[in-house]
Amino acid sequence: MAKVQKRFVCQSCGSVHHRWQGQCVDCSEWNTLVEEAPLNATPFQAKHNLQGGGRMIAMTALDAQSVLPDRLPFGIAEFDRALGGGLVAGSATLIGGDPGIGKSTLLLQAAAALARAGHDVAYVSGEEAADQVRLRAQRLGLGDAPVRLAAATSTRDILTTLGHGTPPRLLVIDSIQTMHSDLIEGAPGTVSQVRATAQELIRFAKERGTAVVLVGHVTKDGAIAGPRVLEHMVDTVLSFEGERSHQYRILRSLKNRFGGTDEIGVFAMAGDGLVEVSNPSALFLTQRDEGVTGATVFPALEGTRPVLVEIQALVVRVASGATPRRSVVGWDSARLAMILAVLEARCGLSFSTCEVYLNVAGGYRIQDPAADLAVAAALVSGLSERPVPADAVAFGEIALSGELRPVAHAPLRLKESAKLGFERALLPSSVDTAAMRQSAFRTLGQFVDHLLGRG
Ligand code: TYD
Ligand code: MG
Repeated sequence: MAKVQKRFVCQSCGSVHHRWQGQCVDCSEWNTLVEEAPLNATPFQAKHNLQGGGRMIAMTALDAQSVLPDRLPFGIAEFDRALGGGLVAGSATLIGGDPGIGKSTLLLQAAAALARAGHDVAYVSGEEAADQVRLRAQRLGLGDAPVRLAAATSTRDILTTLGHGTPPRLLVIDSIQTMHSDLIEGAPGTVSQVRATAQELIRFAKERGTAVVLVGHVTKDGAIAGPRVLEHMVDTVLSFEGERSHQYRILRSLKNRFGGTDEIGVFAMAGDGLVEVSNPSALFLTQRDEGVTGATVFPALEGTRPVLVEIQALVVRVASGATPRRSVVGWDSARLAMILAVLEARCGLSFSTCEVYLNVAGGYRIQDPAADLAVAAALVSGLSERPVPADAVAFGEIALSGELRPVAHAPLRLKESAKLGFERALLPSSVDTAAMRQSAFRTLGQFVDHLLGRG
């Protein structure tokens, strides 16, 4: 009988070696070689993938009847909307966000809502003591909700406890970075621990039909701390965003195996927890006065949901010599530099001796390229000290040539603007819609002439 070859596989790069050594010669990592069971096939079988002995799997047609997953709505409309209609039984959801943004508050409210509706809900905190969570719940007026609460960090203990009897419909783990598995070495929060604990929790979800929600902290560069691999392992990834200094929060869907990712939920952080905001535009539109210069309303789009925001520009002339400042809050500074350059090159408006401050009201962050025209309007108005008409909204993309480009979902934007009392839209001429009175322009030059009353 042939001698069985030993195999040592590097856990870092996956290369296979025939004897153990301290350092992997392929990726130079230390102590990563682990002996694995030899392959159970002759070289011929392995080469031709003829190991035999496997079971036949059933192949089905793509158009066969399938059952839609069972959804469990929280009864918090903005949360359910972001999830695409509610939690799916046996699914794993990751909610990421900056520390202090309100993840624990949101999940405590959601857990309480579900428990009050008669479902079995377990909330496990690895960050706060049970008393702390209880006190917060009482402050939020949720003290009487029948949520099963525990402060624990060992996944073995948590799953042993919940594995007895009927498993809960919802299990909240706050946070995955504090969880620890004794199956592998390493401190909580390390890549291998985060991966291992998530794997155990997800396996529990699939086997027992419990919906598991994992809280994940976000690192400075915006990634969910620990490995990106976590995002591949779960079914749904939500991100909870907002400026700490402002009250609004957006729950955005980044990945959803059971639905679309273009819906958002909007909340406001109040004294008694997170309050749903069903009409976000009203939140971001500050009180508008006639005759203010440097402000334009922009109908932004979040997924399929229009949100009206005010863009403010302050243009201050400075003594020549020093490089004037450009400061942007809530928008892209490279994009501002581009709009300023196009205004200068194509419309003859010079900002070179002006400081420019651009701000999106309410702490909102615009990610929509359609904001170009509204920004240009605010800048021109700030420079010329002529107000943009208070009953107008503006949107459209500006090309480097000065041409105005149409943008997606113009009718939706116009409908929302009309609903909030706006009567006029300034937009690219290629947009074809009759929703409200409009002034359409082919180029930025024509648009600027209109704003400045030059014919
Ligand atoms: P928290 O849910 O603990 O954030 P995370 O879990 O994402 O770290 O939220 C903490 C912040 O929320 C804290 O700074 C105070 C604020 N907050 C309120 O403004 N109102 C409230 O009712 C609660 C509970 C918290
Ligand atoms: Mg927390």
